[in-house]
Amino acid sequence: MDFSLVLRRIGEAAPRHRLDIGDPDLPPPPELVEALRGGGDFRYGPSEGLPEFREAVAEVFKADPGEVVAVAGGRHGLAALMWIFRKRRLLTTSPFYPGYFDIAGVFGLELGLVEGGDGWIPNFAERGVYVVNYPNNPTGAVLPRGKVRELVDVAEFVISDEIYRDIVFTEFVSPAELSPSSVAVVYSFSKVFSVPGLRVGAVIAPRDIAREVARFNRATVNVAPTPAQRAVASVVHLLPRRSREISQAYLRRVELASAELRLRFTRPGGAFYLFPWVGDDVKCFESALEAGVSILPGSLYGRGGYVRIALVEPEERLREAFSAINKACGGG
Ligand SMILES: Cc1ncc(COP(=O)(O)O)c(C=O)c1O
Repeated sequence: MDFSLVLRRIGEAAPRHRLDIGDPDLPPPPELVEALRGGGDFRYGPSEGLPEFREAVAEVFKADPGEVVAVAGGRHGLAALMWIFRKRRLLTTSPFYPGYFDIAGVFGLELGLVEGGDGWIPNFAERGVYVVNYPNNPTGAVLPRGKVRELVDVAEFVISDEIYRDIVFTEFVSPAELSPSSVAVVYSFSKVFSVPGLRVGAVIAPRDIAREVARFNRATVNVAPTPAQRAVASVVHLLPRRSREISQAYLRRVELASAELRLRFTRPGGAFYLFPWVGDDVKCFESALEAGVSILPGSLYGRGGYVRIALVEPEERLREAFSAINKACGGG
C-alpha cells in the first residue's frame, strides 16, 4: 500500500476519528491569526526572506540573520538541502519520514538507511550526509546528548529536520549546538503554530549553504509567501510560551494513551505521534478504519508490523478512538 492509496481509502471511509496525517488540532495563536488579517502587502520580497523575518528567527536560534533563509515550509527547506548535497552519500534513519523519499524520488537521488536500535535510537557509524529528524516522526524518539555527539562526529554534514523541536517532553539537543559549521537546521511553523497550510519555515545554516538555499528558492518559489513571513515574524517571540503550552497539551495525550491504549509502544520524547507494535499493520489499519478511526500502516515509514497514531484530537475524543483501536487491533 502506498501513501496515496491509503489516503484514498481513508477519504472513502470518512472515519469519525482522523488520526492519520499530522494536521494539528490545537488552535493557532490568536495573535498570528490577527496579524494575518491585518496584512495588505502582497509584493515580492528577497529570495532569502524578508529582513524582519530573518532577524526574528535569528534571535530565537541565536544565529546571524545571514544564516537564516525563509522557505515555503519544512519540506521545501529539506528539498533545497537535499538538492545542495545531491552529489554526496545521503543517509537517513529508519523508520523514516516518507517525505524524504518523495524528495529523493523526484531528484533521482539514492537515500541510504541506518536502522533505529533500542528505543529507536540508531548507531551512527557510517560516513555521509545525514538527514535526521528529532523529535522523530513517526516514533517520537529524541537523541540523548551522547548520541548527538556520535552523529556530528561521524557525519560529513547533518541536515537536521527540527520541525518538532518545540514539542518536547525531555531535553532536546540540536546537532547545531555541538557543531554549528557542519549542520543545517530545517525549521517550520506548521506544527508549532498549527498552521501547516501557511507554508512558512526557515533554514538556519552556515552562510555558504544559506546562500545556496536562497538560490534554490529563486529557482522554485522565488520567495516564501511574504504576507505569511511578515505575520510570523511578528509572533516569533511567542515561541517559548507556545512551546511550553503545546508540549503540555500533547504530553497529556501521551499519558492518556499510556493509560488506555493496550498496545506496546516506546514512550515518545517529543512530537505528537505513537508508533505501537500491532503485528500486522495493514490488517490493523483496515480494522481500525472499519471501526471509525484512521491511523497509518508502519510500512509507509519503512516498518511493517507497527502503526502510526497522530494525537491530533482532544482527550475525550482520543479516549473513544483508543477504545476502538484496542478492539480493532487486538489490544482487547
Ligand atoms: C518530519 C517532518 N519533516 C517535515 C515535515 C514537513 O512539514 P511542513 O512542510 O509543513 O513544514 C513534516 C510534516 O509532517 C514532518 O513530519
